[in-house]
Amino acid sequence: MTANTSLLPSLPVVPEVGIVLGSGIVVLEDLEDRLDIPYSEIPGLPETTVAGHAGVLTVGRVPGGPVIAIARGRFHLYEGHPLESATAIMRLFEQIGIRRIILTNAAGGLRDWVAGDLMLIDDHLNLMGVQGAEAEQALTPAEIYDPAWRERLAAWARDNASFTLRRGTYVGLLGPSYETPAEITWLQRIGADAVGMSTVPEAAYAASKGLSVIAISCITNIATTAETQATTSHMEVVDVAAKASRAMDQLLRAALA
Ligand code: HPA
Repeated sequence: MTANTSLLPSLPVVPEVGIVLGSGIVVLEDLEDRLDIPYSEIPGLPETTVAGHAGVLTVGRVPGGPVIAIARGRFHLYEGHPLESATAIMRLFEQIGIRRIILTNAAGGLRDWVAGDLMLIDDHLNLMGVQGAEAEQALTPAEIYDPAWRERLAAWARDNASFTLRRGTYVGLLGPSYETPAEITWLQRIGADAVGMSTVPEAAYAASKGLSVIAISCITNIATTAETQATTSHMEVVDVAAKASRAMDQLLRAALA
């Protein structure tokens, strides 16, 4: 299949998988025939503003694996972006013919975990005040996150990973402030395992378009006490995500295999 050239004239082939990298996550640095396209050169993408987000689409082949597209930088609702911008990368991926999506994010852990842990998202709670899936006729599948892909990855991690892969429910909040102690208690009670400010609109949009989606949270801070949430900063989130990138890199390569 050839790429939709009107959208990205320089794209040689249609990537098989589209990845979105969360704040501070650095992975898959060894792509072959690598092409870096600034968001400013891609029709339909707004500019990024958050530290730790580059605003570049990288396309290339994983050595011995598929051609992939990596979106470095996403558009958050808390930046004031409308829903159309929060889902713009998914629309781009869909339009160039990508059928499989891996979303990553930085998130606060609501369980007795440690900073740097990775969590495979089994489901989400949408408390962002918007729906990601488009318009009235949007099809919302029973499971937004591809069950077969998730189970394959979890099985791989059980047998091969040098770390414990957590699993759980991600709750998406609008942000940009981190949570109060009362909010933390409430989020735990309603069944959330990790809290963040992205991913939900993208996953809902992509799944409603029939794309296969999985998502992985990098737990950058443990949100279970008032002290940790009062002192969590964006720089700390970016720093921990960078340190967890080795494990994330392993996991992503397994997800792409
Ligand atoms: N809360 C919300 N979003 C986040 C957090 C958090 O603790 N950490 C990283 N993103």
